[in-house]
Amino acid sequence: MTPRVIVLVSGNGSNLQALIDANLELDIVLVVSNRKAAFALERAATAGIATLYAPLKPFTIAGRSRAEYDADLAQKIRLLEPDLIVLAGWMHVFTPIFLEGVGVPVINLHPALPGQFAGAHAIEDAYNAWLEGKITESGCMVHHVIPELDAGEAIATRVVPFIVGDTLEIFANRLHAAEHELIVTATRAILETFKQPA
Ligand code: GRF
Repeated sequence: MTPRVIVLVSGNGSNLQALIDANLELDIVLVVSNRKAAFALERAATAGIATLYAPLKPFTIAGRSRAEYDADLAQKIRLLEPDLIVLAGWMHVFTPIFLEGVGVPVINLHPALPGQFAGAHAIEDAYNAWLEGKITESGCMVHHVIPELDAGEAIATRVVPFIVGDTLEIFANRLHAAEHELIVTATRAILETFKQPA
C-alpha cells in the first residue's frame, strides 16, 4: 500500500513543495499548519492536498495546556491513519504527548548539523559563529523527533560550507537549497525502511 504521510508546516512551505514535486511513492493525506497565513497551505491546496489549520491560541485563551493541544492534534492526525509524519518548517515544540498520541515515526527537518545550534535561530546562530571564526561549515539534517529539541537520531545530513563574502541571506539560500534535496532523500530513505521485513 502507498505510505500515507502527513506534513506539518508553519511558513512558506518550500520543503513541502520539494516533497510534492519529487513525486515520491507516497500519499500526502493532510498538510497541517499552526499559522493561518502560511503560504504552505496555498501550496497544498494547489496540489489538491487536504489542509488543516490548527492554531494553539484557542487552547491558551481557554486556559488549556500545550499538552492538551498536542493531544488534540495527535488524535485528529491518528484518525487519518498515517504511516509517517514529516515536520517541514513546523515551528512548535511538541510535548511527548504528541509523539505517544500519533504512534508513528515523526521526523523533522532542522537547518543545522547534529548537536549544533538547536532552536528556531539555527541559521543565524551558525552564521554568527562563522563570523566569529568558530566554524567553517554548517548544514542541515532530518532526524527522528524525540522529546529533546532538535536532538533525535539523524536520518540524513548535508554539510553546507561558508564561503568568503557570504551574507546571511546568501548562506541561508544555499542552506535552503540543500534542505530541499535532503528532505526528499531522507523521506525516501525512511519509507524504504518500512518496506523491509521486521
Ligand atoms: C527551513 O529552513 C526549516 O529547516 C526551518 O524552517 C524553514 C522552513 O522553510 N525549520 P519552508 O517553510 O519549508 O520554506
